[in-house]
Amino acid sequence: MTKRKILVTSALPYANGSIHLGHLFEHIQTDIWARFQRSMGHECYSVCADDAHGTPIMLKAQELGITPEEMVAKTAKEHLEDFVDFGVEYDHYHSTHSEENREFSSLIYNRLNDAGHIKKRTISQLYDPEKCMFLPDRFIKGTCPKCKAEDQNGDSCDVCSATYATTEVINPRSVVSGATPVLKDSEHFFFDLPAFEDMLKAYLRSGSVQTEVANKLEEWFESGLKQWDISRDAPYFGFEIPNQPGKFFYVWLDAPIGYMASFKFMCEEKGVDFNEFWKADSSAELYHNIGKDITYFHCLFWPAMLEGAGFRKPTNVFVHGFVTVNGAKMSKSKGTFIKARTYLDHLNPEYLRYYYAAKLNNTVVDVDLNFEDFTSRVNSDLVGKVVNIASRCASFITKKFDGKLSTNVTNQALADEFMAAAPSIAECYENREFSRAVRQIMALADKANVYIDAEAPWVTIKDADKQVSTHETCSLGINLFRILMVYLQPILPVMAKGAEEFLNDTFNWQSAQTLLTDHKVNKFKALMRRVEPAKIEQVVEASKENLKVVEEVKADEQSELEKEPLAPEISFDDFAKIDLRVVRIAKAEHVDGAKKLLRLELDLGGEQRQVFAGIKSAYNPEDLEGKMTVMVANLAPRKMKFGMSEGMVLAAGPGGKDIFVLTPGEGAVPGMRVM
Ligand code: 2FM
Ligand code: ZN
Repeated sequence: MTKRKILVTSALPYANGSIHLGHLFEHIQTDIWARFQRSMGHECYSVCADDAHGTPIMLKAQELGITPEEMVAKTAKEHLEDFVDFGVEYDHYHSTHSEENREFSSLIYNRLNDAGHIKKRTISQLYDPEKCMFLPDRFIKGTCPKCKAEDQNGDSCDVCSATYATTEVINPRSVVSGATPVLKDSEHFFFDLPAFEDMLKAYLRSGSVQTEVANKLEEWFESGLKQWDISRDAPYFGFEIPNQPGKFFYVWLDAPIGYMASFKFMCEEKGVDFNEFWKADSSAELYHNIGKDITYFHCLFWPAMLEGAGFRKPTNVFVHGFVTVNGAKMSKSKGTFIKARTYLDHLNPEYLRYYYAAKLNNTVVDVDLNFEDFTSRVNSDLVGKVVNIASRCASFITKKFDGKLSTNVTNQALADEFMAAAPSIAECYENREFSRAVRQIMALADKANVYIDAEAPWVTIKDADKQVSTHETCSLGINLFRILMVYLQPILPVMAKGAEEFLNDTFNWQSAQTLLTDHKVNKFKALMRRVEPAKIEQVVEASKENLKVVEEVKADEQSELEKEPLAPEISFDDFAKIDLRVVRIAKAEHVDGAKKLLRLELDLGGEQRQVFAGIKSAYNPEDLEGKMTVMVANLAPRKMKFGMSEGMVLAAGPGGKDIFVLTPGEGAVPGMRVM
């Protein structure tokens, strides 16, 4: 076998938030794959880092009254602890706010600049005159230019789903200071992405991305590659651009360079040759695991930057989908937005590693973490099948046969079948089809259990004439368990370690091709306990706790908003134009794909109206049906993403769970005018 040189990475988590189960889906995937490669004997390194730069991180640190450096250091420590506790073992975990990253960022920029790939031009952007800073889109709020809904994002509207330029927002305000932003000119630096179009097309056709990703990228080529703005003005937490005082690299420029920086640090520590892995004609393999939302950065900008600066490009970018929990987007109010630490406080990390592996394949499809399925999979596969094999055989070996496995192998054909599965399982691991690997391993586990059931050592042990055959059955059972644990080791390193201790052995992939005979084993301890559903409930409850804090903060922010000045005065005639009517909510239901909206059918006294109302966070549809409320009945119908909305229901409250649809007093009947 030729020994491959491999470097694999996970996307760098931002340094202003906690690691959650969504992050872990990717980091566990990277870890399983890297462990598999190492167990095959390849020289495989995995690195990661915290993504430390950018405006949100700078502002969060200000809010906390600490320096960004302090915040970043504290977060990095927490992130690393979370990963280590989930068995995600990086060869190095670095920070993009590091000397190595500053050097590589400058080097790459200088090379791109020397080659004429950096362009300058002046652009006009919204600027906060109080904070004296330019505002990224997400720090601007205002009225949607299309549907006029208030308090919408700087670049998109949650009510009508329109996207627009921040400069189009009506009555914009800075989320940072509340001030009205002004337009201000500034010179920006652009990376000339279009110059790399031919190279990128050829690169992406060369099999460096999954087909579905290549198809998506095709759409971007069709709409035309654009020059990419890589500079930001001070104040900015990042690296100053060489010889350009007051201009900083945009966080997404130095983020992927963080992969190199982290690896460089590791190379210095371990004495590995950095250039072997990164030189333009490197024969080493480089893989990035990423979520589908950051494909553009990794499949277009990043290869172009590397090419332009004379480095190698990734061998492949492995793109995965998102994690949903119990069939829905992770939600803070449902307690399904679960932080790594909250999970660890209650549950064994290897349950999650196994469950994710059992669901993982090499497509971009989203993956659902369903708690019932999670419980039954772990309990039936790992506890009921795998551990069960060992626990049914081990006590006899210890008590009756002096802790020693037999010299003779009783059913070589069965042992051979287990060994022969190695190449096919290895291929699944190599191709990131972990769910297929798991299915094959569990099919073998079933066979081992069928064998033990048939031999029934708990019966034969009582028969003095059958001592030898009982010994051989139990010994084979333990050997089959051992082979399964070799195959599962990349997924379950802690459980595999326990198995190694029990067996007086150390595993690598080749271990599955041997049997332990005439070999002393130790007393068997249960290697995994059943998932207790009550613990999952505790995790969900504790995750809701996290939300309370968030909601309090939001409520505080809201009271700030309430101090906002009133809208300009209107005349009585303006007011009289609004026709407010009592309506009965005849029907209320969820809307597929809508985050905030419920679909209401309103009875206006003989006339039916359909209205989409942004009250999903506060109401279950069934609780609304039959209720009376008040609507603006003469509002022009608006076409929304999910259908026509024919009016508006009146509601008040700070948001979240606290939105209250207004209810008229007793005696109100549908159609009645509200005065
Ligand atoms: O999307 C994110 O969470 C980014 N922090 C990922 C960066 S990956 C790499 F490019 F650094
Ligand atoms: Zn809108």
